[in-house]
Amino acid sequence: MYTPRLTVVLLMAIILRIGIGLELDPVCCTPDQWEGRVYIDDAQIFYYIHMNGSAEVAYDFTNSRAFINATVVQKSLVLKPELQHYSVLYIEDYKNNVEYELDDGKTCQKAWMDFNMTKQCVQGGAKLLQSGVVGQGTNIETYNTTLGDQYQNIRATIERGSCLPVHLVYIDSDYGSVTSCDVYGITPGIKDTKIFDIPPQCKHVSPIYRKNQNYEYELDNGVYCQKTRLDVNMTKQCVQGGDNLLYSGVVGEHIITDTYNITLDKSVPNIRASIERGSCVPVHLYFTHKVVVTNVDVYNMTPGIKDTKIFDIPPQCKHASPKHRWTMDYLIKQMERNLVELKDLHFHASECRGHNAATYIRWGKSSCPQDSTLVYDGYGAGNHFNEGGSGSNFLCLPKNPEWKDYTSGQNEGTGRLYGVEYEIQTSKPYSKSFNDKDMPCAVCLTARSTVLMVPGKINCHEGWHKEFSGYLMSEYHTKTRTPSQYICVDEKLESVPGGDGNRNEAVVYPVEAVCGSLKCPPYVNGRELTCVVCSKEIN
Ligand SMILES: *[C@@H]1O[C@H](CO)[C@@H](O)[C@H](O)[C@H]1NC(C)=O
Ligand SMILES: *[C@@H]1O[C@H](CO)[C@@H](O)[C@H](O)[C@H]1NC(C)=O
Ligand SMILES: *[C@@H]1O[C@H](CO)[C@@H](O)[C@H](O)[C@H]1NC(C)=O
Ligand SMILES: *[C@@H]1O[C@H](CO)[C@@H](O)[C@H](O)[C@H]1NC(C)=O
Ligand SMILES: *[C@@H]1O[C@H](CO)[C@@H](O)[C@H](O)[C@H]1NC(C)=O
Ligand SMILES: *[C@@H]1O[C@H](CO)[C@@H](O)[C@H](O)[C@H]1NC(C)=O
Repeated sequence: MYTPRLTVVLLMAIILRIGIGLELDPVCCTPDQWEGRVYIDDAQIFYYIHMNGSAEVAYDFTNSRAFINATVVQKSLVLKPELQHYSVLYIEDYKNNVEYELDDGKTCQKAWMDFNMTKQCVQGGAKLLQSGVVGQGTNIETYNTTLGDQYQNIRATIERGSCLPVHLVYIDSDYGSVTSCDVYGITPGIKDTKIFDIPPQCKHVSPIYRKNQNYEYELDNGVYCQKTRLDVNMTKQCVQGGDNLLYSGVVGEHIITDTYNITLDKSVPNIRASIERGSCVPVHLYFTHKVVVTNVDVYNMTPGIKDTKIFDIPPQCKHASPKHRWTMDYLIKQMERNLVELKDLHFHASECRGHNAATYIRWGKSSCPQDSTLVYDGYGAGNHFNEGGSGSNFLCLPKNPEWKDYTSGQNEGTGRLYGVEYEIQTSKPYSKSFNDKDMPCAVCLTARSTVLMVPGKINCHEGWHKEFSGYLMSEYHTKTRTPSQYICVDEKLESVPGGDGNRNEAVVYPVEAVCGSLKCPPYVNGRELTCVVCSKEIN
């Protein structure tokens, strides 16, 4: 879940780590010791989140330590609670590589840092955007600088000469975020070194990361490897004695399963785990927490390890140095993960935003799937099966037409539009009881921004949401017939009430695949083709 903490983290990164990856001669560096207050303002525009607050910051390069005490308020239209207050104190002790984090003055976290303090400088390559004078003759300069590889577009305004920070803006146009910090009341030196005293709440806390040689390797998309110190011991995989047996049953070929309510740790209670009785082999796991529902099915499970090579460290990981959670890569990952979660939330809110929606026609039905909205329902209409002319597409005609100028009676020199009848000669793929009945249709609005009909599929491709599936239908195939569009008709057919007469005007038939130029396999001669209508949110 997105919390104000992340913005504080970003602020900390910007304020304290501005000189990261310093290779060229710096333009200027701040004094080795300074203190000041920072006003933070952060807007996640796409997600209706605004966060602001202030922090006391002390930078002490001389003694390799930093202090930040932030109090922020987050206001959001999509997150609950709407208003969140948050305060956090960080003391970073680079000499001993320890970081203390005190949340809301209560819980303290202590962590090892794989991180050295860097001098705070404007990098050599930074581009001077503008200079000027503010206040009582303070000369300032604004540079375009970077933080690591990812934060490419930080506008840093500093006081000329002293290099003390004045204002920082970071804009991420991909995520629609604008983060700005105003630094004020800044003075060189540290007045009160007591601020670096370890808070009493942190005194007996053991570090959440230990200095050990146990590592986890995470290879993302086969490209980027992250190496992290592991701070847990491996445990044997057991259902504990106290776990509550919820129910037992038999699955597949006489496999007896027992389902327990297990707890991973206090923060993850309520996991429903089904195991095979006797072997204890996992079969199914179900976990639900707030808006998250996770299901795991375990299959083809065999005892033993056939190929121990799978544990070989991937070559991409060979030269990765261990990461700590405050490294840029870690922060960026956290931000991205949070933003991915936010996108899900945002998706639910997007229906009211208006500009991100799409429509489609659900043929053969007069209602829309659950999370689409009905624009209108009506009657499927198209051209006559043997008249040759008129339109070639099908239309979904509303039930309450409006008229303007017209001539009554059928006239020459016009196109024609007829109601559509189903022609179902065998009982597959639809029941024959729909033969000669008229086809309804529904025009549906989805909050997702794009819609695609995929022929030959009943499931959508990854990342797409299924609106409905069914079968392709079109005009009969012989040359005496007027060609038509291929449409995707819902698999659970409905017919227009009262539209039972066998009129044979516009007609639709299930569509078969014909091998030849059409590749078989995968297609099979004579099979009725399926179809699915899918939608996707594109930002
Ligand atoms: C933070 O922003 C709110 C508006 O969302 C504003 O009312 C409040 O005064 C701001 N707080 C500070 C400390 O500027
Ligand atoms: C941090 O800020 C809070 C709220 O402004 C204040 O109560 C607390 O004393 C500060 N802590 C330190 C160590 O300065
Ligand atoms: C930090 O500095 C020490 C001493 O200069 C060095 O040995 C160590 O590798 C550095 N650590 C990192 C993560 O850069
Ligand atoms: C700042 O630098 C980044 C890349 O380093 C570039 O993409 C961006 O356009 C620059 N912005 C300005 C205002 O020069
Ligand atoms: C892991 O096991 C080692 C050796 O048995 C023990 O010293 C250490 O405290 C354990 N660590 C945790 C986090 O339980
Ligand atoms: C499972 O256990 C948790 C905590 O131990 C409890 O809150 C929850 O109600 C239990 N669920 C069931 C289905 O028994």
